[in-house]
Amino acid sequence: MDIFEKCTVNMGPLGQYADQTEGYFMFPKLEGEISNRMFFMGKERLVWSLNNYLGLANHPDVRKADAEAAAQYGMAYPMGARMMSGQTEYHEQLERELAAFVSRESAYLLNYGYQGMLSIINSLVDRRDVIVYDSEAHACIIDGMRLHFGKRFVFPHNNMENLEKQLQRATKLTKETGGGILLITEGVYGMSGDLGKLKDIVELKKKFNFRILVDDAHGFGTMGATGAGTDEHFDVQQEVDLYFGTFAKSMAGIGGFVAGDHAVIKYLMYNMRSQIFAKSLPMPMVLGALKRLDMIRTQPEHREKLWTIVRALQQGLVDAGLDIGNTESPVTPVMLYGGVGEATQITYDLRENYHIFCSIVTYPVVPKGTILLRLIPTAVHTLEDVAYTINAFKEIKAKLDAKAYSSEMVEF
Ligand SMILES: Cc1ncc(COP(=O)(O)O)c(C=O)c1O
Repeated sequence: MDIFEKCTVNMGPLGQYADQTEGYFMFPKLEGEISNRMFFMGKERLVWSLNNYLGLANHPDVRKADAEAAAQYGMAYPMGARMMSGQTEYHEQLERELAAFVSRESAYLLNYGYQGMLSIINSLVDRRDVIVYDSEAHACIIDGMRLHFGKRFVFPHNNMENLEKQLQRATKLTKETGGGILLITEGVYGMSGDLGKLKDIVELKKKFNFRILVDDAHGFGTMGATGAGTDEHFDVQQEVDLYFGTFAKSMAGIGGFVAGDHAVIKYLMYNMRSQIFAKSLPMPMVLGALKRLDMIRTQPEHREKLWTIVRALQQGLVDAGLDIGNTESPVTPVMLYGGVGEATQITYDLRENYHIFCSIVTYPVVPKGTILLRLIPTAVHTLEDVAYTINAFKEIKAKLDAKAYSSEMVEF
């Protein structure tokens, strides 16, 4: 059989809709300055689908720092992997500042959050070890575990009773193998916005011997008194052994970091294949990240503005009778019920008649029959945007309840 045969026969769970959805629902092009209003298919839309939580993406100081760094260093410097020829003072400075910000001894930069997470997991565990993880873990955690030769035990999302059972199983097994246990959870779950139960999880350390790795992609910059993350929010920074953050969301950049005790970070520096065998982050990314981090630390007004918008949006949606699940973070899911066809009709109505652009998530990412419209509030949204959007959602829900949307997919 030709290895490429599947490419035309079976496009996979998302690709199966490519013909009907590409360019509109999948791979849409948002154009113009990154903001609350951007252009989609030539028309201005109110955009709720960018993880630009603090509004830094297009902040003039950030743009200036990025441009100056690019002018001074270009995109090529430093050349090579950190270990070989890609080390600079600024990479080290960023790591020191990140570590201090999240109250850890050391930090190490990652070129991408996704690849970094894969590699952290891969370098920490061997076949004797057991990974215990939440069932709603992000793809980067799942893919990291695919590299693991040992056992992995899953617990249903945030189910602490079941987690305890998995830890018992893992403890029994590692007594036989002589390995250790790595527990992986997220700080903020990016689809539902609910938080990993970090307080309860660290409590279990009193009963079981394990280490915790937290993926806080959505919590870094948004959660906690200083924006240092979900473990700051729960006051468990010292009990979370490894903290992972990305620059792709609050920092509106690219790259990421992992932070923890000095000895563990040193080990990762010498063992993470994603960093050893890949080019170092280019200088504009590093200097740009230093600028963004400085703004997160010294300008709490961005986070305060974000939360003003978050509270108004979430309260307004609830008051309007919409189901936003259990979010406790800026991530705002609106749960509606219907098939993929209705989901496309609703999204089309929102985009074309209300000029609202948000992300749509359907089966298989969420259970069959659920339509999740995900709104990401940011510091650059306004209370007028919020009021307008709540009203639009109220109207689309009324139309859905009145069966006004066809179950046919919108076609292009
Ligand atoms: C929970 C979570 N972890 C990791 C990542 C990957 O981060 P990056 O975009 O920096 O590769 C994401 C991004 O979508 C995420 O949502």
